[in-house]
Amino acid sequence: MTPVRIQRLRGTHDIYGEDALLFQKMEQTAKNVFNRFGFEELRTPVMEEKELFSRALGTETDVVKKEMYEFEDRSKTQVALRPEGTAGIVRAYLENSLDKKEGLCKFYYMGPMFRSERPQAGRLRQFHQIGVEQLGTDSPYADAETIHALTVFLDEAGASGYRVKLNNLGTFEERKKFREELTGYFTPLKNSLCEDCRSRLERNVFRILDCKVEFCREMIRKSPPIRDFLTPESKAHFEKVGQLLKDSGVSYTEDPYMVRGLDYYTRTVFELSHEKLGAQDALAAGGRYDKLVESFGGPSVGAVGFAVGIERLLMCVKGPAPAEKSYEESFFMVALGEAAFKKATEIVFKLRAAHVKALMDFNPSSMKSQMRSADKNKCRYAVILGDNELEKGTFVLKNLEIGEQKEYSLPDVIEVCKKNRKFL
Ligand code: HAM
Repeated sequence: MTPVRIQRLRGTHDIYGEDALLFQKMEQTAKNVFNRFGFEELRTPVMEEKELFSRALGTETDVVKKEMYEFEDRSKTQVALRPEGTAGIVRAYLENSLDKKEGLCKFYYMGPMFRSERPQAGRLRQFHQIGVEQLGTDSPYADAETIHALTVFLDEAGASGYRVKLNNLGTFEERKKFREELTGYFTPLKNSLCEDCRSRLERNVFRILDCKVEFCREMIRKSPPIRDFLTPESKAHFEKVGQLLKDSGVSYTEDPYMVRGLDYYTRTVFELSHEKLGAQDALAAGGRYDKLVESFGGPSVGAVGFAVGIERLLMCVKGPAPAEKSYEESFFMVALGEAAFKKATEIVFKLRAAHVKALMDFNPSSMKSQMRSADKNKCRYAVILGDNELEKGTFVLKNLEIGEQKEYSLPDVIEVCKKNRKFL
């Protein structure tokens, strides 16, 4: 068969080397931080019924209209690859009767999401999110706790330098009047709006507020702000969130024109941008979605959450490459001669079973080449075994960082390695 080289799809990427280590670090940091805040992990499937997303996110949103990967499976079910995590969490919460357990449910999740957007720096078609959701609460304490958890996570992940923006979108009820006023304000200005905004005026007038075109922004800045349409209850909720954030040391700015690209939000919404990100500067975003659980036949309970894009997070935490080589507490077996190779193989298996990281080149090669492999793998130690040593019943342990070496008795090899891990 003629060989064919197949490439990855546009907007997807392979994660390896330093990036794979950073992914692991971010995931571990998230687990530690969210566990401290009382969140538990919930893993949902990568594919769900398409209707879950179209109902939750809104049929008129860009994500549902233009960006979902959707297909009909063999049993004619309309399936979509998840473009975000919240809808799946709500489905799982109801399907597993977690809403029947008393009180609040707090979940965190991480994994790949899929959106068929035009790929560019920081914008992928398969990307990864880490997120949290709290279901079963209307309390402003939950909004503040969620945002605080996000900032603690970003600080511990090494991504300080972010800016928090906050707005209150009101309830669906409050937004009805706002929609009318906004439509009334923009309709006479229609011909001065950009082409996208003209169609937004017909489809979803709120999306105009998100426009980045400067002449639209000028008109937006003069439009009536949502806060003029909030009930005292909604205003009090927002003020309490702000107060609690100040008390927990989270600084933020209010952006009365911030809207979100998904339709489920009610009241508090927030976005975090980062100085190290370019045009796609949204590092994380979230908010309250008090009607979503009910809209899937669940109880009338409030909920709030956020998601961080891991690829964007990595762009924020990556600094210059470390100047010094860092050694790992691991061992490289260097074997010279057939009998020594056999013995070394036996030892490497035993070391691993004894919880010691040990590597070996299973293609017999020269001492120089094996030492090079040890170096490449950043092993601090070489366990050197030649036929001479084998005859004497010894081996040599060499600390590659400081260049010192010492001979030990072969039957003690596992114990010696375990003991010498930190020093020689
Ligand atoms: P979102 O704003 O659509 O919200 O996405 C959250 C984050 O995911 C963004 O801030 C960004 O870092 C990352 N992201 C989104 N699209 C892409 C992409 N194409 N390439 C790379 N990164 C991307 C949500 O997904 C909501 N579910 C958040 C939420 C949770 N709201 C309440 N609970």
